[in-house]
Amino acid sequence: MSASAVPARLTDGPRLWADLMTMAGIGALPAGGCCRLSLTDEDRQARDLFAGWCREAGCTVRVDAFGNMFATRPGRAAGAGHVLVGSHLDTQPHGGRFDGVLGVLAGLETVRALNAAGIETERPVTVVNWTNEEGVRFQPGLTGSAGFVGALTAGDEAAITAADGARFFEDLHRTGYAGSAALQIPVAGYYELHIEQGPVLEQAGIAVGVVEGVQGVRWLAVTLTGEDRHAGTTPAGERRDAFMAAARLALDMRTAAALLSPDLRITFGRVTVEPNSTNTVPGRATLAIDLRHSQTALLDRMEGEIRAAVAGLAGSEGVGGTVARLMDVAPVHFDARMQAIIASAAERLGIRTLRLPSGAMHDASNLATVAPAAMIFVPSRGGISHNESEWTEPQHVTEGCEVLAQAVLHHALQPAGPW
Ligand code: GLV
Ligand code: MN
Ligand code: MN
Repeated sequence: MSASAVPARLTDGPRLWADLMTMAGIGALPAGGCCRLSLTDEDRQARDLFAGWCREAGCTVRVDAFGNMFATRPGRAAGAGHVLVGSHLDTQPHGGRFDGVLGVLAGLETVRALNAAGIETERPVTVVNWTNEEGVRFQPGLTGSAGFVGALTAGDEAAITAADGARFFEDLHRTGYAGSAALQIPVAGYYELHIEQGPVLEQAGIAVGVVEGVQGVRWLAVTLTGEDRHAGTTPAGERRDAFMAAARLALDMRTAAALLSPDLRITFGRVTVEPNSTNTVPGRATLAIDLRHSQTALLDRMEGEIRAAVAGLAGSEGVGGTVARLMDVAPVHFDARMQAIIASAAERLGIRTLRLPSGAMHDASNLATVAPAAMIFVPSRGGISHNESEWTEPQHVTEGCEVLAQAVLHHALQPAGPW
């Protein structure tokens, strides 16, 4: 079918919305959000549901050695690169109903829409669910896509850590999602529809964002070691309190980040103290630090500040420390041709767009290292995400999915061969 014969609108917004709400029932939380941490029983249920829906849509579902799920609708050209479309089904501990899930289920809706319109494509269209995008249970995050692009090695448990002692590849087996190391999916282009998770589109009153790129992300693990001592008897001058050292580090680094750049984001989202007892001065603290900026040089400078500050805690707090990198995702610019495909799909549909960068991290950053990649954003109410109250209007879900489907179709109709 030629592009001119494609129906003006392909996708069924209410069907996608119904799927989103059904999926939100798995790991549902009291305030309307979801908790489906990667490779838990909830994640397995979500995967099973998604796989069933994909098979009903006529797709072949395959799983690779990182548990990434690929649901393929074949194309006419044997051996052609796939148009890959998807995101992730895992969530934050207090996650919302849209982060990640939208991109996966909109990919499935695209396939259903192509089926309903009887459209054959040159290239296969493959919907993907990446494993452990969020990085809550396992670090680094974006684990599945990192494995897919060769940045992690299948079976290397030591390269992936978990605060609860879980083992990534063991858990893939436990959940039934340890797939084939031999699975190869040649990628012609990767599309990801996602909620913006920030306020820009809502404030501009625009339903669809064409994402220009994603800022860099760096995760550091800091371990501070003082001495366990009695809370009631140890005088101030004899304390080597790992919590006080952590608190000093956090406040000093917030100031240092603000001085380096107002756009530098620093978050201390995971902090533990040991022995975690009210009446013991804590002898050990561990901190995970999340740094974001669009320039690698700024991330390097901030990491340098943190390392120097941790070293300085020996003198100021009597507490020793180590710093390790858990994840380093470089800033990326998305493929200009794919951004143009998205923008013209929206234009044909009469949907206004805005170009914007992504503040949140995405599997698309990893994909962009091996193939053309691009993202589409839809507005997040109040710019709120990683929060149970995360919300995107049904109309915006519908518009974003339609733009996605039209862009994917345009790409999949291109004759196979170098793109
Ligand atoms: C992904 O959820 C991120 O941390 O930006
Ligand atoms: Mn996400
Ligand atoms: Mn997220």
